[in-house]
Amino acid sequence: MKFILLAALVCGQTLTNGAQAQSDKEIKEALSALQALPKKVPTPADNPQSVVKVELGKALYFDPRLSKDGTISCNSCHNVMSGGDDGRPVGVGIMGQRGGRGSPTVWNSAFNTVQFWDGRAATLEDQAKGPLTNPIEMGMESHDAVMARVKKIPGYGEMFKKAFPKDKEPVSIDNLARAIASFERTLVTPDSAFDLYKNGNKKALSPAAIRGMVLVHQVGCTSCHGGGNFNGEGFKMGEGNYQPFPQVPGSGYDKQYDLLSDKGRYEVTKKDEDKNLWRVPTWRNVALTAPYFHNGKVKTLDEAVRVMAKTQLDMELKDDQVSDVVAFLNSLTGKLPTIVAPKLPQLANESLTPEP
Ligand code: HEC
Ligand code: HEC
Repeated sequence: MKFILLAALVCGQTLTNGAQAQSDKEIKEALSALQALPKKVPTPADNPQSVVKVELGKALYFDPRLSKDGTISCNSCHNVMSGGDDGRPVGVGIMGQRGGRGSPTVWNSAFNTVQFWDGRAATLEDQAKGPLTNPIEMGMESHDAVMARVKKIPGYGEMFKKAFPKDKEPVSIDNLARAIASFERTLVTPDSAFDLYKNGNKKALSPAAIRGMVLVHQVGCTSCHGGGNFNGEGFKMGEGNYQPFPQVPGSGYDKQYDLLSDKGRYEVTKKDEDKNLWRVPTWRNVALTAPYFHNGKVKTLDEAVRVMAKTQLDMELKDDQVSDVVAFLNSLTGKLPTIVAPKLPQLANESLTPEP
């Protein structure tokens, strides 16, 4: 990690001149280091996409009957009609219970090489099973209890059969997770202003966004937030880009925003060297997903940028630099697909919510 700090110090020299117009060379260099959103979504060989599977996954994703008291669905915390999150500091599950971390966006989560702030799930399939039985989130006693619920809803039986035609017992927790993951692989947001610019439309970015793009490249933000999803470059699926946060200890921010109590990756591995390591989150659509950081303590993108510059690169950005970076981050808001809430299959007895 030292090399990043060094890069920041060296570049810091040239940056003291403030927000000057960038030279063509600087723009070219930054642009060639950054990537557009890949056209192809990574998909595991044992779970190929199909229209019927995605449709099933979408229904399950929107179905609150998969929670203990029938009130919470995946979409409650990851609203795909907006930023793919819930706009809250931390997730709120059944009976108003609060978790300890913020809900990350599901937009483009298909490009994450690991899932969760601490990377504890390797795939979307693994991830999808967690919230169902998390006592704070959807609160079901067991995966068997979830499947018993699903089996009470005849429409689902048909949908599972169509989605997994070769399976003897298509209605299973693994297939439920596969279907949800397949739906999530459709939640991608291409054609942000940055992507259009990268692909040749020189009018797509404002001068401020271009200055911000050059700055994040020069100071080293993108050494962590690199690659097509701006959360790490060159990592394979199942392999996480874990970085310390805060990397530079002792800034007032540690206390102000309570950055040290949750130990991040350490909570999974219990290895000392993993204390306060976090998976690098995406910058795509970050303008839509306030509040920020694992604990949702930072309310605005401006402040998140200041905190990052100080805690990760030991730099203080000037106000015009912060607004340039924010202009660039805004240019990473993609085209959100229009999602219409599905009509859910009904229970046999026509009652919409099962007994808790
Ligand atoms: C009560 C709110 C809540 C519910 C309900 C919920 N989630 Fe989440 N989700 C979260 C939170 C909070 C995290 C981050 C937890 C962590 O990292 O420790 C998360 C993480 C994720 C991630 C990882 C994204 C990333 O960038 O790492 C995905 C994908 C996801 N949830 C999908 C789902 C699906 C699918 C369901 C339904 C089966 C679901 N969630 C239900 C709050 C919720
Ligand atoms: C050493 C690696 C590293 C560097 C360098 C870095 N970041 Fe981060 N960034 C992270 C990590 C890790 C997180 C997640 C921290 C957390 O919430 O636990 C993060 C989170 C963020 C977030 C909040 C995302 C969200 O959804 O809550 C923003 C915005 C951000 N970084 C912007 C920047 C900017 C701008 C720079 C350069 C000034 C930068 N980062 C430099 C690793 C880095």
